[in-house]
Amino acid sequence: MGSALADTLIAKGFDITVWNRTPAKAERFEAAGVRVAASTVEAVAASDVLVVCLFGHAAVASVVMTDDVARELRGKTLINLGYQDPDEVATLGQWVESHGCAFLKGSILVYPDDVRAGNAPILYGGSRQIFEAVQAVLSAMGGNPIHVADNPSGVMNAARAYSCFLVPTLIAFVHGAAICHRSGSSIEVYTRDLVLPLVQGPGLTGFLKRLSEACAQRRYDQDVQATLADWASDFRPWVDRMEADGVRLDLIRAIGDIYRDTLARGHAQHDLASIFETMVAGRPSG
Ligand SMILES: NC(=O)c1ccc[n+]([C@@H]2O[C@H](COP(=O)([O-])OP(=O)(O)OC[C@H]3O[C@@H](n4cnc5c(N)ncnc54)[C@H](OP(=O)(O)O)[C@@H]3O)[C@@H](O)[C@H]2O)c1
Repeated sequence: MGSALADTLIAKGFDITVWNRTPAKAERFEAAGVRVAASTVEAVAASDVLVVCLFGHAAVASVVMTDDVARELRGKTLINLGYQDPDEVATLGQWVESHGCAFLKGSILVYPDDVRAGNAPILYGGSRQIFEAVQAVLSAMGGNPIHVADNPSGVMNAARAYSCFLVPTLIAFVHGAAICHRSGSSIEVYTRDLVLPLVQGPGLTGFLKRLSEACAQRRYDQDVQATLADWASDFRPWVDRMEADGVRLDLIRAIGDIYRDTLARGHAQHDLASIFETMVAGRPSG
């Protein structure tokens, strides 16, 4: 990911210095005339905006949080894009700021090639003023920087919520492909004629807006087009049919459990969004 970020900055005309602990990984940059620092201290000294993308907090702590780096930080801005949990973000942020350096935490939601292609949403947490001050750099890295929290750690909460949507959605897509395979229907037709029109057209947007509004207000009795009881009763024969198809049912059974618990909470006549109450309760009822 670090190479992709460097590629985008170079493509946008930024004069950058790169560093990687394995020198061979920086060779192609050197061959292209990009400055390669021999150490992190040299890299930090070379720029006012410092972009870090390493694997895990331990790597960031050992590479960045050193006395030598601390002496070079004053007046600069450090942007950490590697994964950290919120406590680790807070630890790094406090350390960076204690040395007179502004701090932003970013979270990348896509693959390196999406960053290179310039259609990559990257979420940021930290002061909006800092975000705006380095906006040119952030826009160059992926094309779509989104400020989601004034607190650097807050970005990881937003990223977790986003991943809770994205990851099961992608796995559910593969689940559907497996049903096509088992039942002898076309994965291409499933993708082209069913899933993509839903995702690209107003269908999914409509579902999501309704759910968002109901969850935010915790009101599930407004403009109910299909009750939770309807959703749950349609569901049972599907599961039986999928069992006959011979695909794994773990994912779909979890949905059945959530329906059952939400019905037990008295939401049979409410909108599908009422499963929000089961989710926030955090444990099965009964
Ligand atoms: N790849 C993706 O699709 C993707 C998407 C979104 C977010 N991310 C995030 O991006 C971050 C980096 O992931 P990646 O895919 O770029 O992984 P990667 O290809 O394995 O790169 C990890 C980088 O961290 C360096 N590193 C690891 N431990 C180190 C240490 N102790 N000291 C110094 N350097 C160390 C590695 O150096 P060496 O080259 O010397 O091993 C390498 O440059 C992760 O937090 C990941 O969650 C990745």
